[in-house]
Amino acid sequence: MAKETFYITTPIYYPSAKLHIGHTYCSVAADVMARYKRMRGYDVMFLAGTDEHGVNIEQRAKAAGVSPKDFVDSIVCDEGGILDLWKLMNISYDRFIRTTDDYHAESAQKIFRTLYEKGDIYKGTYKGLYCTPCESFWTESQLDDGNCPDCGREVKNAEEDAYFFRQSKYADKIMQKIADYLEPSSRVNEMMNNFLKPGLEDICVSRTSIKWGIPVDFDPEHVMYVWVDALSNYITALGYGNDKYNDFDKYWPCDVHFIGKEIVRFHSILWQGMLMALEVPLPKKVFGHGWLIFDGEKMSKSRGNVVDPVVLAERYSVDALRFFLLREYTFGQDGNFTNDVLLNRINSDLANDIGNLVSRTVSMVEKYFGGTLPTDRASGPEDSELIAMAENLHKVYESNMEKFAFQDALSEIFKVTSRANKYIDETMPWVLAKDEANKPRLTAVLYNLLEVLRICTVLLTPVMPDSCEKILGFIGAADDARSFDSTVSFGTLSATVTVSKGEILFPRLDIKKELEALSGENSALPCKEEL
Ligand code: MSP
Repeated sequence: MAKETFYITTPIYYPSAKLHIGHTYCSVAADVMARYKRMRGYDVMFLAGTDEHGVNIEQRAKAAGVSPKDFVDSIVCDEGGILDLWKLMNISYDRFIRTTDDYHAESAQKIFRTLYEKGDIYKGTYKGLYCTPCESFWTESQLDDGNCPDCGREVKNAEEDAYFFRQSKYADKIMQKIADYLEPSSRVNEMMNNFLKPGLEDICVSRTSIKWGIPVDFDPEHVMYVWVDALSNYITALGYGNDKYNDFDKYWPCDVHFIGKEIVRFHSILWQGMLMALEVPLPKKVFGHGWLIFDGEKMSKSRGNVVDPVVLAERYSVDALRFFLLREYTFGQDGNFTNDVLLNRINSDLANDIGNLVSRTVSMVEKYFGGTLPTDRASGPEDSELIAMAENLHKVYESNMEKFAFQDALSEIFKVTSRANKYIDETMPWVLAKDEANKPRLTAVLYNLLEVLRICTVLLTPVMPDSCEKILGFIGAADDARSFDSTVSFGTLSATVTVSKGEILFPRLDIKKELEALSGENSALPCKEEL
């Protein structure tokens, strides 16, 4: 039987400057979900990409004295560019789309033409308030103190001959459906109150003022509005409107689009309207996550208060950074980033908790049994609670992962590892080791610890793939003890398991020293030169 499919996407980022930790956050979350679903046996399509058109890119390229295509090529493909960042961060995308790819441009033109021929796109005159850096038109009522509600900057009166998408026609249907696909539910209220209930206006979907975009093929003075071009990527990348790929029927409708909260509007209204007009089924979920905030402000390339993920990944390991991002923050809400929070989280969970549990357990198996456990085991009264927690873990983990509640899924795992550390204090293996008669009890204690570690590590694998593979090696887990299904029952490790001590994966950090180092030359804080 064909495997069940799972299609997940990240936003396609603007290659206008190097990406920062906020972008990394969303891509890591999507990667974790993709890896989790693969572990569950799904046929996963994980799409990543870049949104390469628009006035912002055009202006930056001009300032840099290069063509827009050369400009985006360097940000995407050069050493240290976006592709390198995703490689470093272990982002396991299956496909990468660039909106300058020929097949995408051709398909986006077809989409535009289809909507025009259907009468859902029509020609008119646009008069409005435009925010150039955000490439967004706003109505008076949406402005924040007269400025762009997204970036707080000035908006200008703008007027041009333009094509419009008849979004208003789909407003009722969007209102009926939005609560089915948009999460978290607080975002539904936001969209209803700010955009849908006040009355959805038609939206301008072409520009004559810029050249760097996909031309409207039947009226080439106009280029397509960058958001129509960009949103289409989710279907063109599967082969909708082109022969490059042939997976549209297989993977669409999308299982989930992960996006940041400020682009929920485009994904939950414009995109849905476009799909309705194209008579294409709607995505099953759109999840609008929160922002990583830095000193109370959104971290953003244009504000210059960005944190460079490369510095942190190279210093503390890719896995520690991936873990921190999902363990520290609630996916649907904003969270404050500071180096202090990062360092404390690494120490508390990775160095002190799981790292300590691995090294204590493996060292004891080596010290008391030369690395291989004997078969004779004697259970004790301390076992049942720990075993029950470990056996139950996959259920709570699964229910949280299915809701994209990464923080809760991880916190459940760490409840079990802390319980296991406590179990060591209760059973006192070093006391048991003193008397030969206690060897079966000592064996059981160590076996239980290895088993708990195995279950926790398998479930942590989507978040920390490389470190978990190493841990599973240290604790002697065979292939059949590394699958999700193997976490359902306690006792999968071979009775005569052999461990091997490896390197310390997460050394304890001297926080004061690290804070000083991070605020020095190698700072992870503002990369202002990228402005
Ligand atoms: N190109 C559009 C997306 C088109 S999708 C069809 C775009 N690009 S972006 O590069 O500006 O931002 C992409 C994503 O990064 C957004 O989802 C945004 O929320 C996210 N983030 C940017 N800064 C962020 C933080 N500080 N924290 C979390 N996410 C952040 O918008």
